[in-house]
Amino acid sequence: MPAIVVVGTQWGDEGKGKVTDLLGADMDYVVRYQGGNNAGHTVVTPDGTKYAIHLVPVGILTPGVTPVIGGGVVVDPKFLISELDELTAGGVDVSNLKLSADAHLVMPHHRALDRVVERYLGKARIGTTGRGIGPAYADKVARMGIRVQDLLDPGILRDKLQLILREKNQILVKVYNRKAIDVDEVVEEYLEYAEKLKPYIADTRLILNKAIEDGKNVLLEGAQATMLDVDHGTYPFVTSSNPTAGGAAVGTGVAPNKIETSIGIIKAYTTRVGAGPFPTELFDEYGEFLLKRGGEYGVTTGRQRRCGWFDAVLGRYAVRVNGITDLFVTKLDVLSELERIPVCVGYEVEGEVIEEMPMTQTDLHHAKPVYEYLDGWSEDIGHCRQFEDLPKNAQAYIERLEELCGTRVSVIGVGPGREENVIRHDIV
Ligand code: GDP
Ligand code: IMO
Ligand code: MG
Repeated sequence: MPAIVVVGTQWGDEGKGKVTDLLGADMDYVVRYQGGNNAGHTVVTPDGTKYAIHLVPVGILTPGVTPVIGGGVVVDPKFLISELDELTAGGVDVSNLKLSADAHLVMPHHRALDRVVERYLGKARIGTTGRGIGPAYADKVARMGIRVQDLLDPGILRDKLQLILREKNQILVKVYNRKAIDVDEVVEEYLEYAEKLKPYIADTRLILNKAIEDGKNVLLEGAQATMLDVDHGTYPFVTSSNPTAGGAAVGTGVAPNKIETSIGIIKAYTTRVGAGPFPTELFDEYGEFLLKRGGEYGVTTGRQRRCGWFDAVLGRYAVRVNGITDLFVTKLDVLSELERIPVCVGYEVEGEVIEEMPMTQTDLHHAKPVYEYLDGWSEDIGHCRQFEDLPKNAQAYIERLEELCGTRVSVIGVGPGREENVIRHDIV
């Protein structure tokens, strides 16, 4: 069976957790391919239990699924152990987890640098999650990273850390006026993590490719989203990895031609956490309406999310960049009770209307949304399960999004629960 990728189309928090959990029932493997514990994926199980999952794949909650952390993820071992302990205490069996030997580790100096650099940037800060993600990826690319497999060789771990901290401590102490990090303390701490994580460490590239050869179902679970992609997002206001579908191949070692289905998760409106351009952002009572109705508070940092109308320019862009075959529109229920709903169909930049993402960040910063107004509906739609159950105007809203984004909407979320969906086309 070819693999399936689930990708965020906007600036994150589209509901990837819910969708991955829903599809997980049909999967043999669920795999995280990038990011780290900067992600926050919410799952509400049919008995009403709410999980906030950060680093492990959401598939860990589904009995029978093998959860995999791929090589493209950056792993904070302290966080991973606490997340596994918490899940275990809640009755979840985590013993089947596979952790790529190639994944890079988030080290104490990464967390320290993430925080001081943000403070140093002042008004120009990115608004990161402070989890050390950016510095960990920067060191990976600079060939200064420490990998999961280094935990298996204490001599190598110490040698690498000694070399790296020689430079990092200079920066921490002399540039940022912070305390130096002690090599021995970190080695001791990380060797304790090594003992705990050893049973999970595996050659995940081989496992996943064999699984695909054997006809197993593999789901690649994206974190973050298209507009936060370091190459295709609103740089520099992005995360430091590739959440887009191409990143799924790189972050797992599953070849691109083995990934045939690309499911784009798209909120019926738009949100963003942290700094950066956001053309349809609202600063009025409608923004307040979406924030309150949608419960738009970050799962990882608790920050209020910035809210705005649906942006079809982003939608089209995400469809193209990720080769999206099916859109899963989430949170349509949040829009009930609005008399009319604006949808951004293009941008006005320097007096000219454009329908595609501008070539430069400067233009995106100056982009003013061009709105089309669709009629709203007053009914609560939480109980709807068939497209025909939805009010006519809600159907028209979805059909218009489909037209504007240029791909079919296969499922529509009408509530946070696993079952709260209108299914139009089967996607697995
Ligand atoms: P993720 O990071 O993409 O997994 O998304 P988050 O979990 O950070 O944020 C999505 C929020 O929307 C969570 O609180 C979900 O429980 C909730 N959610 C997902 N789908 C729906 C939906 O269709 N309707 C409503 N009302 N809430 C939803
Ligand atoms: P999920 O998977 C929303 C944002 C941060 C910040 C920028 C860089 O739940 O959709 P980082 O700590 O990654 O260096 O921060 O990216 N960000 C997210 N925003 N959802 C996420 O994950 C995010 N992960 C990172 O707010 O603007
Ligand atoms: Mg989230």
